[in-house]
Amino acid sequence: MAKKRVFSGIQPTGILHIGNYLGAIKNWVSLLDDHDCIFCIVDYHAITVPYEPAEMQNRIFDAALGYIACGVDPEKCSIFVQSDVPEHTELTWYLNTVIPVAYLERMTQFKDKSEQFRDNVTMGLLDYPVLQAADILIYKAEIVPVGEDQSQHLELTRDVARKFNNLYGETFPEPRTLIGKAARVVGLDGQAKMSKTLNNYISITELPEEMWKKLSVAVTDPSRKRRKDTGNPDICNIRMLHALFSIEKEQMYVVEGCRSAGIGCLDCKKILSDAISREMAPIRERYEQLKSDRDKILTVLEEGAKRCREIAQNTIREVKKKMGLLR
Ligand code: TRP
Repeated sequence: MAKKRVFSGIQPTGILHIGNYLGAIKNWVSLLDDHDCIFCIVDYHAITVPYEPAEMQNRIFDAALGYIACGVDPEKCSIFVQSDVPEHTELTWYLNTVIPVAYLERMTQFKDKSEQFRDNVTMGLLDYPVLQAADILIYKAEIVPVGEDQSQHLELTRDVARKFNNLYGETFPEPRTLIGKAARVVGLDGQAKMSKTLNNYISITELPEEMWKKLSVAVTDPSRKRRKDTGNPDICNIRMLHALFSIEKEQMYVVEGCRSAGIGCLDCKKILSDAISREMAPIRERYEQLKSDRDKILTVLEEGAKRCREIAQNTIREVKKKMGLLR
């Protein structure tokens, strides 16, 4: 039986952090053996908000490097840059003609970003979800592993597929959203989703000393003010990170210690810091090794784009035929 196709992407917004790693990339790695995986660096999406053009190529390179260092083995999947396959924008145009504007105006990410970039609410920002639908549908992907925050975009992707199929005949499968164990990784402020822009993150290449600096001031259960106060691990962000990095025994120890004031928050953080280092050290080493092998990374991206272009061009031909655009 043919392997099911998986598609996902991340924006090149600088060094990857453990939120990206836990929320998406770790999940990708677990799919490599039994699926036909395509992973994309979505630069067309990244330009829908103000950005620094001179930095873009570095960020793309960093994203590719980060994927591979985290275990996304290019021997087992395709990794490519979105703008290397311009057919994504062509399909976006066709899909634009089947999706009502009202569907896009009510997307929460659009509303949030319109708030954030008040003087810069562009067509690109509004159309962002249709481009995302095109990314997925152009490969007829069936499974899309993403963080919880992308659920609404995937819902829209299915709407687009359904509408297109109804109008022009069965063409696209409706893709399934696959949300990993870490649906939403909260940042060190204990409030917002971990993100580069909010500076509440631990990067995938963070050195142990740097990580400790960040963790030692990270927010915990705010009602636990003194060492002898008991804490509530269920609302503590450090405990959530323990659940994702620590072994069972460590988790039981910190949860028990927090409830009984048996250990302090700093002790708890120290155990977490060691657990994160344990998992991330090999990734950091691979990252440092690969960094100097620029040609290898560029070759991976070239080969990825070559394969994806072929698939994308086939879909475009099929779509144009169905839409009556092929002579
Ligand atoms: N919007 C996604 C994010 O911000 C990135 C993305 C673009 C994506 N195209 C995609 C994710 C296609 C999955 C599939 O995380």
